[in-house]
Parts: sequence; structure tokens; C-alpha cells
Amino acid sequence: MKNVMIAPSVLAADFANLQRDVEMINSSQADWFHIDIMDGHFVPNISFGLPVCEAIHRHAKKPLDVHLMIEKPELYLEAFKKAGAANISVHFEACKHLHRTLQEIKNLGCLAGVVLNPATPVSVLEDILPYCEMVLLMSVNPGFGGQQFIEFTYDKVRKLKRMITERNLNTLIEIDGGVNYETGQKLVEAGADVLVAGSYVFNAKNPVQTIEELKTLYL
Ligand code: DX5
Ligand code: ZN
Repeated sequence: MKNVMIAPSVLAADFANLQRDVEMINSSQADWFHIDIMDGHFVPNISFGLPVCEAIHRHAKKPLDVHLMIEKPELYLEAFKKAGAANISVHFEACKHLHRTLQEIKNLGCLAGVVLNPATPVSVLEDILPYCEMVLLMSVNPGFGGQQFIEFTYDKVRKLKRMITERNLNTLIEIDGGVNYETGQKLVEAGADVLVAGSYVFNAKNPVQTIEELKTLYL
């Protein structure tokens, strides 16, 4: 039995009560804090940046899983490491020199992740997969929380899982967007290792209990 890892997305927190929400995640069974960084260029929205990431890190008792939805992410790797990132994931669609960028993330001592938009097939990872410690599949178009889960993601997870197993790798598969208990169960069955959940957790009456329920998902 393998329990899934849960990364609540701070994007759905109450920013006027950020410390309270960080403490909620600390007190829960969540594994990571998922930190969504948006620049208004790569995605049509702006979230928050380095000072907020640094402030979360000061209170967080679990690793920060930083998802960079920004152009030229290679320019900001060191800054996010300094702001407390444990994992740094960059979009395939935003990187001209992905191999180099992944090496740079690893050299900083962070876990190196690649993110694919819904329209990007997992086959683009054919050669680069051994250099990815994690692959994050977007199950919504990045930019906003609370969107509807895109159904063909299950197929992508299965394909990716097959690629990882065939190559004898231990790359983690993370899924982001529209995750709830139902989609989460199917994702875990398809091969997901980490689930990001924003609105499902933060809009719940009891977020700590909702995280606990997600943690019971297993294959
Ligand atoms: C979307 C972000 C997600 C978002 C997920 O661009 O990358 O992490 O917070 O939100 P939900 O879980 O509400 O779909
Ligand atoms: Zn995200």
C-alpha cells in the first residue's frame, strides 16, 4: 500500500490571514506547501512573489514545493532557493534550455521538476526524463485556482507512469488542478505520487480533515 503525498496550494489561502493558514497546513497531515508563482506573462494572472514565499518559509514546518509559472524561470532559481524552496518546478513551455535549467536546480540542492501544460504531450519528455526528479502534469490550464479538472489527464498519467517504469526511474508524478477526493482516487490509481489541492482544501468546512481524507487515498 502506497499513500499519496498531498501538497495544499497556498494560492487558495486567505492572504490576509496567511500565517493562520500556514499553521493550519503545519498542523495537518500535508506533506508539502505548494507555492504558485505567476508573472502575468507566462500565465494571464499574477499571484505573489519572493517576499511572500520567504514569509511562508519562516513559518512553514514542511518543505516548499515551488511551481514557477513564469517566463525565463532560469533567472530566478537562486532567488527562490534563498526564499526557502525545497522543490523547484519549471514549465517545459517556458524553458529554452531545459537540460541546463534542471542541472542548475539540482546544483542548488533542490528537487528538480518539469511541468507540462495540458496540451503538451508526455512524449516530449522522452530524452529528458532521467534528469527530472519530478514531473508535474497540469490538469487545468495554469493561471487560476478552482477550475474544472481536464479528463484526459488520467491517460497522460498512465503513459508517463509507463515511461518511468520502463526506464527503471523513480521520478515522482505530481498533479495540479481540480483535484478532489474523486479525481484524486482515479489519479492515484493511474500512477500519481503527489496531489496538489487548492480550493478543495481551503473551501472545505474543515481543511485539516479534508487533507486527512486525501491522505487516505492509496493504490
Ligand atoms: C493553477 C495552480 C494550481 C492551483 C490549483 O495554475 O498551479 O496550483 O492552485 O487550484 P485548484 O486545486 O483549486 O484547482
Ligand atoms: Zn501549481
